[in-house]
Amino acid sequence: MAYAAEAHNIVKKYPSVIAVNDVSFNVDEGEIFGLLGPNGAGKTTLNRILTCLVKPTSGQASIRGIDVVKRPAQVRRNIGVVSQAMTSDLDLTAWENLDIYGKYFDIPRKQRHENMKYLLETVGLTARAKDLVATYSGGMRRRLEIARGLIHKPYILFLDEPTTGLDPQSRRVIWELLQKIRQETKLTIFITTHYMDEADVLCDRIAIVDYGKIVVLDSPSNLKRSIGGFDIIEMTLGNFSPEADAKLKAMPIVKNITEKDEAIRVYVEDAAKSMPVIIEELRKMNVSIDYLAIHEQSLEDVFIHYTGKTIRETEAQKVNFFSGAGAPKQMPGARV
Ligand SMILES: Nc1ncnc2c1ncn2[C@@H]1O[C@H](COP(=O)(O)OP(=O)(O)OP(=O)(O)O)[C@@H](O)[C@H]1O
Ligand SMILES: [Mg+2]
Repeated sequence: MAYAAEAHNIVKKYPSVIAVNDVSFNVDEGEIFGLLGPNGAGKTTLNRILTCLVKPTSGQASIRGIDVVKRPAQVRRNIGVVSQAMTSDLDLTAWENLDIYGKYFDIPRKQRHENMKYLLETVGLTARAKDLVATYSGGMRRRLEIARGLIHKPYILFLDEPTTGLDPQSRRVIWELLQKIRQETKLTIFITTHYMDEADVLCDRIAIVDYGKIVVLDSPSNLKRSIGGFDIIEMTLGNFSPEADAKLKAMPIVKNITEKDEAIRVYVEDAAKSMPVIIEELRKMNVSIDYLAIHEQSLEDVFIHYTGKTIRETEAQKVNFFSGAGAPKQMPGARV
């Protein structure tokens, strides 16, 4: 059986930059697959290649086994697209925006309106369906565009940075929405993002991309495990003495102890297994625990490990807010 999406050795060269540099991956049916990377990493370009908007310089890509260059019309019937920039028509209502799209896909009136009602309900816009999109918040507009991308019941939905610029509450609403749609319809979802939390919460597998290349590809938990390192047990303790500190440090499961403000941070390989042992040791020494929290490795740690930088450092290099997706931006280190 064919994969939901496949990319084989995709290269996209522009005159001054190689936007995508020999990228290969497979997306399984029904999974949420994420491309995580900083500005200029090549996410939008890859997205555009898979959705027939840009032709690769070399390499081959397919959706459900259908070649994106040779049979774009057939691919388009199988894909829904939510682009990085918002493109719904502000002068029309949500209902009209959806209706136009449904007509474009030649969906007969009755079925089109049924789909529209279902989708408006799913994205929570039924009550506002007859209002002009100009009166919508960013989050509402984004939800409308997700509904629009699903009007023809595609097999796979492509979303390019779907929550960029939205407030935290609206971002969470979109995540829950996408999870609900995936559960109800078994839709395959391909998402690009530069948000660690988004990739972590939503994606079954993540490809970290940087300078047009996939640096590493795996599930969020495997990625975190792959970089080794430690869980951190953070505690605020009563009557914690230098002797108690020395005793904890001497325990083989304790890799390190640091102090921060009032709390100590104990580094262990596996917090779930180590915690009861440490608590017991503290109890024996009559040390009380006033506060305890566990921190696991984050995707941020994974990103730093594989790319040698934080995603925020690269974000800071963004030159022009208005240039948007696809506008030429020279990234340091990118070679022609
Ligand atoms: N049409 C184009 N012409 C020339 N260069 C382009 C074009 N589209 C993209 N690029 C360049 O290709 C590289 C990758 O761009 P792309 O938009 O794919 O990155 P991105 O990961 O989506 O970034 P962002 O997070 O800013 O959306 C950048 O250096 C960009 O300037
Ligand atoms: Mg982009």
